[in-house]
Amino acid sequence: MIVSLVGLPGSGKTTVGRQLARRLQLPFQDSDQVIEVRIGIPIRTYFEQHGEAPFRDLEEQVIAELVAGPSCVLSTGGGVVLRTNNRHALHRSGPVVYLKSNPDELYRRLRHDQSRPLLQVADPLGKMRDLFAVRDPLYRETAHFVMETGRPSVATLVNMIVMQL
Ligand code: S3P
Repeated sequence: MIVSLVGLPGSGKTTVGRQLARRLQLPFQDSDQVIEVRIGIPIRTYFEQHGEAPFRDLEEQVIAELVAGPSCVLSTGGGVVLRTNNRHALHRSGPVVYLKSNPDELYRRLRHDQSRPLLQVADPLGKMRDLFAVRDPLYRETAHFVMETGRPSVATLVNMIVMQL
């Protein structure tokens, strides 16, 4: 069984995923980390050198491999839901949790973070709002349930997720 976390960049997928994995006594996997190990450079650099499409191809391949592998908690990149194959693969492989956050709050959190290639634009707040508008329906479609982040602590979120599984 693969327990997946989806949501916008900065929504806490990695932080919550690690603690959830510990709690469920499952290995933790992060598809972005798997990709970075494979390409040997930061994703941001890869984006700059090759553009988004080759990254999405790699991401799709890595997701297909991970969902075919042993049980784990899987934290995904924010754009994973853009590909239909990924949405189906994650949904079929076990419970998918959408960590839903307000785009304005995410922008405040990521303002100084240089590692998010999609936010290195003139209007990152507008960009985050656009990402939310496009992706929120896709996260909902992929997930079995939605957890509002924001107020609850990571520990509380993990408890709430465990109760839903
Ligand atoms: C992306 C989010 C990133 C990473 C890549 C693309 C996106 O992951 O996969 O930079 O399209 O939202 P995080 O959600 O962990 O930042």
